[in-house]
Order: sequence, then structure tokens, then C-alpha cells
Amino acid sequence: MSIQQDKIAKLVERRASARLGGGQKRIDAQHEKGKLTARERLALLLDEGSFEEYDMFVQHRCTHFGMERQHFDGDGVVTGSGTVGGRLVYVFAQDFTVSGGSLSKTMSEKICKVMDMALRAGAPVIGLNDSGGARIQEGIDSLAGYGEIFERNILASGVIPQISGIFGPCAGGAVYSPALTDFTLMVKNTSYMFLTGPAVVKSVLGENVTQEELGGASVHASKSGVAHFAADSEEEGIATIKELLSFLPQNNREEAPLRPTADPYNRVDDALNGIIPDNPNQAYDMYAVIGSIVDEGRFLEVQRDFARNLIVGFAHMNGRSVGIVANQPKVLAGVLDINASRKGARFVRFCDAFNIPLVTLVDVPGFLPGTQQEYGAVITNGAKLLYAYGEATVPKVTVTLRKSYGGAHIVMSCKQLRGDLNYAWPSAEIAVMGADGAVNVLYAKDIKADPEHAQAIFEEKKQEYVDLFSNPYQAAQKGYIDDVIEPRNTRWRVIRALEQLRGKRQDVPAKKHDNLPL
Ligand code: HXC
Repeated sequence: MSIQQDKIAKLVERRASARLGGGQKRIDAQHEKGKLTARERLALLLDEGSFEEYDMFVQHRCTHFGMERQHFDGDGVVTGSGTVGGRLVYVFAQDFTVSGGSLSKTMSEKICKVMDMALRAGAPVIGLNDSGGARIQEGIDSLAGYGEIFERNILASGVIPQISGIFGPCAGGAVYSPALTDFTLMVKNTSYMFLTGPAVVKSVLGENVTQEELGGASVHASKSGVAHFAADSEEEGIATIKELLSFLPQNNREEAPLRPTADPYNRVDDALNGIIPDNPNQAYDMYAVIGSIVDEGRFLEVQRDFARNLIVGFAHMNGRSVGIVANQPKVLAGVLDINASRKGARFVRFCDAFNIPLVTLVDVPGFLPGTQQEYGAVITNGAKLLYAYGEATVPKVTVTLRKSYGGAHIVMSCKQLRGDLNYAWPSAEIAVMGADGAVNVLYAKDIKADPEHAQAIFEEKKQEYVDLFSNPYQAAQKGYIDDVIEPRNTRWRVIRALEQLRGKRQDVPAKKHDNLPL
């Protein structure tokens, strides 16, 4: 063997050793926990043969607590670039087999390097987290590393899509990197996120709580809204990340890729002409409407189990990516509340940042009243959704199906918030409030003064109000609604509107940045 061949053999050997991370025993332990390794996850995520790894030979520089005797090539994270569906992405996957994936300064440098590269190339970053947090032996260096990552998350926000997969522990301040990214996906039963773990909770508050109860995927997907997706398995989680990417552009200067469809753009659906119940207090399923109007009924819902009174997610319409925002009459009658407003605002802002048009389907009786909501700052939180719609400059097409009352009418992408095309079904009721509430305010004195005829007065005035306001024509007469459309035609009307708006350009006044109501 020549000297050169010997050197090449050593390289091959060293690469093979680096690929084993913390070694076979720790890989086996990872598998025993029902988890994949960092490299196995990347293999599932990226197109075959597309992965180019960087910094495979980077090692930590710590010399405390015996760390000087423990070196693993690549340290606790695998980083690089590759393609998903032929499109470039940058990735980092924390390797739990090396010091529990805990973050060393050199690991943070590796992660920051791919984030910088992604920002320069204008390509998404996907981080797969599985880590014991700050590398304890490195002290403040590790914290500094987190700070460097967070700063890059912030600078990249709104420029390139950032997606976080949580595939194991993610605790302490480490949770803030995923929280700064656009989407967080968790895997049920094997991942958790919390600021302080069960032991601290017990000692400070005396509460007994398990990791799963405190910060498992189900909790964050349904109660806190921290997780946008909760997958049953790592495989499902990675498939969801890939699907999500298919709706997104590479960066804020590009449009999302076209997804050719066999679904005719002018398909009509007669079922929609019969979907609104005669009784205005009866619910129907907004998913049926969404499924009917989007390409092939395919809808990737975001935060499915959180604030279910508002549905948000991605679909394609005539091959183009759209963000759907829709009230769900089946849950809390589709009312807006704190969580629905937060959820909607975040989604609308994401779509606006990444040139994804918004299609809003309205059936909203108003904002949820009560002390719980007021004390929880429903004013500020409701204003977030209002703000998000008002500042958005992407094409905005709105269809009012039934109720659209009061402040909630304004919030849900009305004309005055620079809605581009606002349609209504003939069943639309666009007014300050519902008929019962209106009559009770306007005729309370008359009703009280004449108890014998109270019911008759109420019914008469209610009918007058219904005839006058419980329809779309008041709004249409004033141009607040651009057209009243037959429900069966909704798909092609929305698609045609989106086509008209493809060249839309709209500016906002120059400013350093906005001050949205946080
Ligand atoms: C160094 C760590 C580590 C850490 C785990 N390891 N966490 N090494 N720093 N933070 C090492 C272990 O020593 C062990 O090494 C290996 O990783 C696997 O850990 P195990 O404990 O054997 O695994 P498991 O039983 O699955 O438990 C995982 C765990 C636990 C729940 C994550 O390790 C744990 O509680 N770790 C500490 C978590 C923590 O308090 N981190 C700091 C949070 S504060 P060997 O050599 O035996 O394989 C923080 C601040 C961030 O992160 C602030 C950002 C602003």
C-alpha cells in the first residue's frame, strides 16, 4: 500500500468511526428506547445519496471533568445539506449517543455554520433535536453556544423556513431555539419539552407530574400550542416534515413550488349548496368545506388539536400553495378566543412572510366573552390576529359562509383590512351582532314595559332585524363584499381570484419594525 493509499484507508476508517457516534452500545441503547439515531433520521429525511456532511471531524475543546479523555469525531451533532424532493435543505441532527446530545461550544459552531450557509443560499433549515441540554462540563461556553444559535434563529426568521423536529429530550433554555423557529414537530411518548423538569416542579411547587404530563407531545399539541404537529412515530414525524416542505418556498423571495394536479380548477360541488343548516344555531363541519374546495381534498393541518375552534393549514388550489384559515362551527360555535387568535395570527404571519396567499373561510359568531378571556388579555391576543391580517400583503381571498359578527367580522380578513376579494354565500349574516342580542339591547325598555306582549315584541323586532341584517346584501350593497356567490362555485371562484392576484404588490410604510401587540 502506498503512503497515499494508506492515508485514504485511514480517512475511510475515521469516517466509519465518526458515523458510529458514541459507539454501538449507545446506538443499541437508543434503539431500545424506541428511538432512531441522528443519522438514521437524516437518512429518512433526505433524498437518497443527497447528504453532504460538514464538520465530521470537529471535536469538543473541553478539558474539565475528564472530558479531555473523551473525544468523538463530529461531537454530538451531525450537520450538512441535502435535498428533500429534489430541493436543497440544510440540516442538523443532535446525536444522543454522544454525551446525550448535550450542546458543546463546538456543536453550536457546527449548527451555526449550517444556519449561516442556509441563510446565504436561501434554503430551509431543519433541526432534529434530541439532547440533554447544555453540556454541563463546558459551563458558560455552552450557554454562549445557545445564544449564538438563538440569534441566528431570529435573523433567519421570515427569510428562510425553519423547522424543528423534537425527537427526544429538549429541556431548559434549549427549548427556545425550536420556539423561535416556524414549526415544531414532536413525537408522542419519546420526546418532551419543558423549561424545568418534573424534579424542579416537585421541589418548587410540590406538584407531582411526569415528563409526559409536563411536556409531552400531546400536551404541547393540545394545551400549550407549542407543538404544531404531534406524530405517532419518528417515521411519521419525518414524513410530516417532508410534506410540510412541499407547501413552502425556499425563502422569502421565492414562491412555493407548483404541485400539478388532475383536480379540475372549475370543479363544482353541489353538496356545498346544502351544507348550511336551516337552524342558525346548528353546526356543520368546516373540514367538509375545506376538503371540497382544495386540490384533491388534501389539507395539511397545523396545530390540529389546539384551539380547534379555528382551523389553519396548508393546501393547494389549482397547484398553488395556499394558507387556509377557517372558523370551525363544530367547536365552540366557531367563536374566536385567546388561543384561536394566537394560533391564527402566527399562521397568517408565516404565510405573509413566505408569499403564501391566504384563503379565509368565515363563520364566526364573535369573540368569546367572560372574565377568563378578559383576564387572559383577549384584547391583546385578539389584536394579534387583527394585526396579522391587516399587515399581510399576500393575496387575501375571503369567503363568508354564515355568521360574521362584530369585531370578529373585522378580524377575519374583512375588506377594510386590505382584503383583496371578499365573497359571501347567500347564507351569510354580516352584522354588528346576532339578532337575539341586538333586540335585547335595542328594545329592552319596551319589553320590560309591556310584559304581557314581551315575547311578541321580541319576535317582531327579531324578524325585522333578521330581514334587514341576516344576509350578505347590506354589505354587498356597500361594496364591503365584492360578490355573493353560490356555494357550489366556491372552488373556482377562489382559484380565479388567486390567479387575478398573482401579480399583487402592496407596500407598507417604511419603519424599523412593527410593534405588534405581543
Ligand atoms: C453533559 C450529559 C448531559 C448534559 C446527558 N448527558 N445530559 N452530559 N451534559 N447536559 C450524558 C450522560 O452523562 C450520559 O453520558 C449520556 O448523556 C446519556 O444520558 P443518560 O442520563 O444516561 O440518558 P437518559 O437516562 O436517557 O436521560 C436523559 C436525560 C438526562 C433526561 C436528558 O441525561 C438528564 O437529565 N440530563 C441532564 C439534563 C439537564 O439538566 N441539562 C441541563 C439543562 S439546563 P454517558 O457517558 O453515560 O453515556 C440547559 C440550559 C440551556 O440546558 C440554556 C440555554 C439558554
